[in-house]
Amino acid sequence: MALILRNGEVITASDRYKADVRIEGGKITQIGLSLPVGEGDESYDCAGRWIVPGGIDVHTHLDMPFMGTTSSDDFYTGTRAASAGGTTSIIDFVIPRRGQSLLEAYDDWRRRADGKAVFDYAFHMAVTWFDTAEVRSEFSRCIDSGMTSFKTFMAYKGALGIDDDELFKVMSAAKDHGAMVTVHAENGDAVNNLIARHLGQKKTDPIWHARSRPPEVEGEATWRAITLARFNGQPLYVVHLTCRDALERVREARARGQVVYAETCPQYLVFDESVYERPDFDGAKWVMSPPIRPKGHPDALWDGIAEGLIQTIATDHCPFFFKGQKEVGRDNFSKIPNGAPGIQDRMSVMYHYGVRSGKLTPHQWVDVCCTQPARIFGLFPQKGTVAVGTDADVVVFDPGHEFIFRAADSQHRCDYNLYEGMSGSGRCELVLSRGRVLWEKGEFKGNSGMGDYLARSIAKDQQAAV
Ligand code: URP
Ligand code: ZN
Ligand code: ZN
Repeated sequence: MALILRNGEVITASDRYKADVRIEGGKITQIGLSLPVGEGDESYDCAGRWIVPGGIDVHTHLDMPFMGTTSSDDFYTGTRAASAGGTTSIIDFVIPRRGQSLLEAYDDWRRRADGKAVFDYAFHMAVTWFDTAEVRSEFSRCIDSGMTSFKTFMAYKGALGIDDDELFKVMSAAKDHGAMVTVHAENGDAVNNLIARHLGQKKTDPIWHARSRPPEVEGEATWRAITLARFNGQPLYVVHLTCRDALERVREARARGQVVYAETCPQYLVFDESVYERPDFDGAKWVMSPPIRPKGHPDALWDGIAEGLIQTIATDHCPFFFKGQKEVGRDNFSKIPNGAPGIQDRMSVMYHYGVRSGKLTPHQWVDVCCTQPARIFGLFPQKGTVAVGTDADVVVFDPGHEFIFRAADSQHRCDYNLYEGMSGSGRCELVLSRGRVLWEKGEFKGNSGMGDYLARSIAKDQQAAV
């Protein structure tokens, strides 16, 4: 039995055309005009709708222990929420404790995700310590287990962060395997010193979170990571890039032929630093690292996307309840758990504030939300586009629908929404994961455990500039 999406407009990173799409056995089997609907087949009318690839969010933190608490969405609630917003694959992070075996942490994360995720998921392996003999020997087993990208933190010194010596060695080991290194680029020592200075001056409100992590600490660390990657002849992927300082470093590196990819997140495109000065500790909702930037930086990021300096949009979804979790830092900004919800909102924020406001074409929207994430991280062409032979991870998208973001309407397991009261547009009317319906007209039809673990292989694009 097949499902035929009829009379839609297929939009990919490169093409736009009217067509029907036939789905059978979890795959797209035919695309064409007026496809026959056989006996026993189902059809879905897509007139006036776009048929786009399911989104791929390559930066999420579900069920993640962090800063003395745990992110509030698990792999069921988080993927369910993501799919409501048109995302049908994620790459989350395995985060070993310092000194813990990477493979042991991987087994832990598989236990967190298996049987829960409603769509397919993969992992990056975070390297939070580097002992040459032990950790290096685990790299090839990580790759054999499908984790072909390694995440490093230059911030969070004393917890997840590593130093330059360790970062250099991670890059060198990754290079031996052709694997990708991704980096959270902030100068962790400078940040820790600024935090101590501000707290010493009794500056405890959320705005001091941002002032302890100014754009310069991100720009400096970005350039340092780029330089170390260059010494190793190693491509680099910079996660959640937020500011002009870091973007300019990426521009310089690419201009001299280095393979550097950059990701940003919707929240860095639509907010400015003034969110931290909202009354009643409300600014804590935006406490994340790096922080939301002063006016001017978001425009630079939009330009960076349009110029192709930024290839991907991810969410860094890491939700904490305001009540009971964020509140812990009422008297000390450094105790506010870093992170915010957004996994459901990525495609619609980028559509409304990008496509509808004329900053992005529909093709660029698909490219940064679906296609480039798949290409860079070894999921393409199985995921990330609409073509014959690919997984039927497909969204029927109503581009004319308008709405207001509200926590009350959101699927996140969280008591606030970053975009509360703001306008949005676009509706994911039908969401398919390998041909199976997850959402239809606002109704969830999926189940926990429908998703499979995606063992990734080394991506061709990892070694080549886009
Ligand atoms: O504040 C953030 N971004 N929390 C999640 C961990 C990280 O740095 O990505
Ligand atoms: Zn980070
Ligand atoms: Zn993150």
